[in-house]
Amino acid sequence: MFSKSAKCLSQICLKNSRSFSTSNQVNSKVAVLGASGGIGQPLSLLLKHSSLVSDLSLYDIAHTAGVAADLSHINTRARVTGYVGPDQLKAALEGAQVVVIPAGVPRKPGMTRDDLFNTNASIVRDLSIAAAKYCPKAMIAIISNPVNSTVPIASEVFKKNGVYDPKRIFGVTTLDVVRANTFIAEAKGLDPNQVNVPVIGGHAGITIIPLISRSNPSVSFPNDKLDALTKRIQDAGTEVVKAKAGTGSATLSMAFAGARFAVSLLEALNGKEVIECAFVKSDVTEASYFSTPLVLGKNGVEKNLGLGKLSDFEQNLVKNAIKELKDSIKKGEDFANK
Ligand code: 2OP
Repeated sequence: MFSKSAKCLSQICLKNSRSFSTSNQVNSKVAVLGASGGIGQPLSLLLKHSSLVSDLSLYDIAHTAGVAADLSHINTRARVTGYVGPDQLKAALEGAQVVVIPAGVPRKPGMTRDDLFNTNASIVRDLSIAAAKYCPKAMIAIISNPVNSTVPIASEVFKKNGVYDPKRIFGVTTLDVVRANTFIAEAKGLDPNQVNVPVIGGHAGITIIPLISRSNPSVSFPNDKLDALTKRIQDAGTEVVKAKAGTGSATLSMAFAGARFAVSLLEALNGKEVIECAFVKSDVTEASYFSTPLVLGKNGVEKNLGLGKLSDFEQNLVKNAIKELKDSIKKGEDFANK
């Protein structure tokens, strides 16, 4: 059913060394909330390439009719529909198994992800209220920053609506893994598609903790190089913000990462065991949300694989991240409950 070129392109959104089934015909509706934006459009394009998606529901406050009409001409399986404005959220969300949320504003040079809180917190709160109402059992994958606060916001909203399942709400940290794989591969002359570096913690600055000691294949660096690589991974989002010089933050690589995570959720829903890192409700550290490698299954998080063995350097990174994580989590929870 798929053309050769569509198959080739669909490989783009695949995680490392994992094959992508184009024969699976299980019906899965995926909703993208913020589909007309810088991340939303390329994310929707990549999802349109996945044969695991039967219905691609594109929601935004403007321009979704055009994005949907454009994508709908691509000869892949997913039926594309566009929805505009809060009155159409119900239709956009009903029946969705996976909801990906890239909605919100991006950083400008000099801003931290937390500087986006005032605008993005209420956007994520309102979209979460709709998801809790119209698709309470869906897997929710949150891209909107600051992820360290928006995931707690969504969780509190689901709690208030009596439909909270901590196994189904995720902060997407996949771009940190994608960047770590790329930078380590560059440093060692490896194929980036064959490198896997877990990244734990959160999705902002020092809370991003690459576990280079657990890279597969295994790699080692002198201390100064290890330190520089770790900092580059932590600041990689800011590297893009600076390069874009006021026009936004990472959109294309984030779309790639978001699509990879959404496809992993769909694979898990289809019965395949998949491991991804994501920022979830957690009891592995003092921070009540934390990203670690997770086994994903039909019900979301099947098993949290925890911190695993850390080097002294990595243990120190975890220690240094906890305060910021706890503060960001509390900020999100307080906002949702005020
Ligand atoms: C990044 O890491 C946008 O947070 C996103 O680049």
